[in-house]
Amino acid sequence: MKIIRVATAEQGAEIAAELFVEAADSYPRDPVGLATGGTMAGVYRHLAKTGFTPRCSEAFALDEYFGIPDTHENSYANELNREFSKGLGWNGTIHTPGQGPYAGLHGPEKFEQTIQELGPLSVQLLGLGVNGHIAFNEPGSPFDSKTRVVDLEPSTIQANSVYFADPAEVPNQATSQGLATIAQAKKLILIVFGSAKQAALTKALHSPDETTPLAALNQHSNITLITYLET
Ligand code: PGA
Repeated sequence: MKIIRVATAEQGAEIAAELFVEAADSYPRDPVGLATGGTMAGVYRHLAKTGFTPRCSEAFALDEYFGIPDTHENSYANELNREFSKGLGWNGTIHTPGQGPYAGLHGPEKFEQTIQELGPLSVQLLGLGVNGHIAFNEPGSPFDSKTRVVDLEPSTIQANSVYFADPAEVPNQATSQGLATIAQAKKLILIVFGSAKQAALTKALHSPDETTPLAALNQHSNITLITYLET
């Protein structure tokens, strides 16, 4: 794992945006992999500032809350439409697990088939949860997992409630790419900010085991961690 140490989240988001552009432009026909949440919002702001428009026509989202429509304020499909498509003036398609053609019982399988057909992705953005989750692969998720519906840990529901107008509305399930799905991307950019994530990062880097989802990815041949935390 390559580690880029930064002084601030702002600087880290800028470097992440530069690496994302470089990787996406190296394989311009391959889809890109997007993530959501507070950390990624900074990356998308920097991408917009540089005037970058992806040359690819497809993108894949990591995850989505289960049972909320893509028009919901907190839907990740909606967030990516706002921050990535509209933010960058890009007209491509974002494939989001659990939404559109990927809703319903066979949706996760269909999402996997589509990512196999159109992938591998040139680059995948990744965050780390306070509890160590990657996408919505909570601690203990199988390293060979594929896209599926998962139960969210109470700590994840609590952490994400800050983004909801009514904290009681946070879904308790999600559809998430699996760890094996994520591992297929050519490049992984993992961005970890916030002292609340220090313990999860330290454990994943120094005592990785089956409870640390990052352990499924930290031997990836092209993974870069951007952080100001201790490593
Ligand atoms: P955050 O989410 O960027 O909002 O902290 C990261 C995550 O839970 O993966």
